[in-house]
Amino acid sequence: MKKATLFFAAPLAAVAALFLFAAAQVAAKHNTPESLDARTAPVGQINVAESGAATGGVTVAASRGRQSGEAVYERTCAVCHASGIAGAPRTGDREAWRARLAQGMAVLLEHAINGFQGETGVMLPRGGNTALSDAEVEAAVVYMVELSR
Ligand code: HEC
Repeated sequence: MKKATLFFAAPLAAVAALFLFAAAQVAAKHNTPESLDARTAPVGQINVAESGAATGGVTVAASRGRQSGEAVYERTCAVCHASGIAGAPRTGDREAWRARLAQGMAVLLEHAINGFQGETGVMLPRGGNTALSDAEVEAAVVYMVELSR
């Protein structure tokens, strides 16, 4: 019986030792000042870091700063404006944009940021994406307008 016990106990002890070692490593890693900073940072920041890592980092990190007009358009505005659903003026449709462009950029921008109810439908504030900054909405408007004049 003694031999059998040893036969099981020895590998078990080895596994347990490995576990303890790994746990110690993890604990040591988690207690660096950097990791403490990361864990006590605002939730939003941690999410950015995580999603950045998951998608290769570059795009997400960049988009958090300031998205290009094209990026904003593709992600938020194209849903309605690419096909012209729900009464949205289709991007590139000069007829649909002529009278709108005549209002001037300031009005278009005001409508895009604050939303407006026109004759053909409802434009939501920031196209429904409230996370967009004024500058990002403006860049998207400029992008759409350039393709539609
Ligand atoms: C849910 C659909 C939808 C989305 C998403 C959307 N729009 Fe619109 N947008 C509309 C509709 C509908 C109109 C036309 C309203 C009308 O004239 O009755 C419109 C009109 C506009 C106009 C013309 C305003 C004017 O004064 O004629 C601009 C500029 C515009 N959208 C910009 C954007 C931008 C920039 C985005 C993305 C950030 C966006 N839209 C996303 C539906 C949408």
